[in-house]
Amino acid sequence: MRRLVVGISGGSGIPLAVELLRQLRCVEDIETHLVCTRGGEITAAQESEMSLEEICGLADVIHDNKDIGASIASGTFHTEGMVVVPCSMKTVAGICSGYTDNLLLRAADVTLKERRKLVLVARECPLNTIHLRNMYELSQMGVEILPPMLTYYNHPQSLEDCTRHIVGKILDRFGIEGKDFRRWNGCVEK
Ligand SMILES: Cc1cc2nc3c(=O)[nH]c(=O)nc-3n(C[C@H](O)[C@H](O)[C@H](O)COP(=O)(O)O)c2cc1C
Repeated sequence: MRRLVVGISGGSGIPLAVELLRQLRCVEDIETHLVCTRGGEITAAQESEMSLEEICGLADVIHDNKDIGASIASGTFHTEGMVVVPCSMKTVAGICSGYTDNLLLRAADVTLKERRKLVLVARECPLNTIHLRNMYELSQMGVEILPPMLTYYNHPQSLEDCTRHIVGKILDRFGIEGKDFRRWNGCVEK
């Protein structure tokens, strides 16, 4: 069984996390470990029809963000890596500086120190120089910055199409084919 850590922080974009967890449920050999910040809980209440319990129910294992002794806080607990979706600028700053005062930040720090894949779906608009500097520095450390940017070449018909496309891009980073992910192959059918 491969393990993937999914962090939800207080950026806008909770439907991305929901769709990612839904699609990962269909991947037989992936066990998802979910950790959500307080900011994530607040944005979830704003942005999703689902309750926090329902969102957490999509994961295989749920961790309390205050539990710094959880399995995912240790490098000896093997995972394929971690994705933070959505990733707030506060969490970007915490990861960049190594200030691991909650489980999500500790798990990201562990992912970095173990040289595992760390994908941040970093979301803010517009971006200030601090945000850009932090993301640049993280990128230099091998972190993949995957902002939830709109794509038009795949002719999305709905917000759900846009969400699925970004989730497809996240899954691609872990070698997993996203549901209805439309790749550019020279000409995408309308
Ligand atoms: C509805 C809502 C949307 C937000 N969207 C963003 C966002 O897109 N990016 C961001 O950096 N912060 C955003 N914030 C602010 C963060 O939630 C806040 O800075 C929080 O302290 C982040 O903490 P966390 O990273 O521990 O979750 C938003 C807050 C709310 C209530």
